[in-house]
Amino acid sequence: MNSSVAAAHRIWQDHTMRFAAALDRDDPAGDAAAVPGDRNPAAAVLHAKVPGAKTPGTPGPARDPAAGAAVLAFCGTELRLLADGALWWPEAATLVVADLHFEKASSLARRGSLLPPYDTAVTLDRLDRLVAALRPARVISLGDAFHDPFALERIAGEARQRIAALQAGRDWVWVAGNHDRALRGAIGGTVVEELAIGPLLFRHEPAAEAEPGEIAGHLHPAARVLLRPKSVRRRCFATDGRRLILPAFGALTGGLNLLDRAYRGLFDPAGLVAHLVGDGRVYSFPRRHLTPD
Ligand SMILES: [Fe+2]
Repeated sequence: MNSSVAAAHRIWQDHTMRFAAALDRDDPAGDAAAVPGDRNPAAAVLHAKVPGAKTPGTPGPARDPAAGAAVLAFCGTELRLLADGALWWPEAATLVVADLHFEKASSLARRGSLLPPYDTAVTLDRLDRLVAALRPARVISLGDAFHDPFALERIAGEARQRIAALQAGRDWVWVAGNHDRALRGAIGGTVVEELAIGPLLFRHEPAAEAEPGEIAGHLHPAARVLLRPKSVRRRCFATDGRRLILPAFGALTGGLNLLDRAYRGLFDPAGLVAHLVGDGRVYSFPRRHLTPD
């Protein structure tokens, strides 16, 4: 690749990272002071800039991915909800990510919506950083790893090599999502419908009647918190202590408001907590602080 083409690639990749970050944060954090009168202490810091937080697309010092995480006691385990939107289970040295949606931009391009085709690289960058820092013995992709059944035909050789490098030396499990049927035997790792480990059950789509301990993806949860006079919307983990749904990890994936009817019946409203991710921190809000879009 000559230098001008490489420079163009860098510019478009930077554009993709900023676009992905904007999807995570549709209200500019950092430009509002702590809001007087907010009863939830998390509200006071949600708008504050986090020291050392890195602007997407700019180089910066490596950040400890476990710093700023929320610790969740969940069905006899202690989990870390990471600010990157991944789940870390230290006791089992297991990293869990949901809804990577590799090749979403190229899928949209086939239907005429042109976006810079760097979402796969940006998602792999995020994953690389976590794997390098945490050195998991096991990685679980919680479904919808690829955006559509033909994504494997479009994904670049370089991205395939990066996935193979991530898989090397550890267990890699693809929990099959709506779009993952074609994975079997095609890209390394193990493909399963569900995975039970100790008290936890990992599956793609939350079940209507699930036993405690279910960890799922699929719904891409996000939450909006009203911080007068503004509101903040972020991807989030959602849990009532019996079930945990992870935010979508992939770039360009967006999120569905936790108050949407799609979540009806999945959580005990009295115990529901949204753990919002962004800017190197996780901010936890009970349901009463959430508002529709
Ligand atoms: Fe998905």
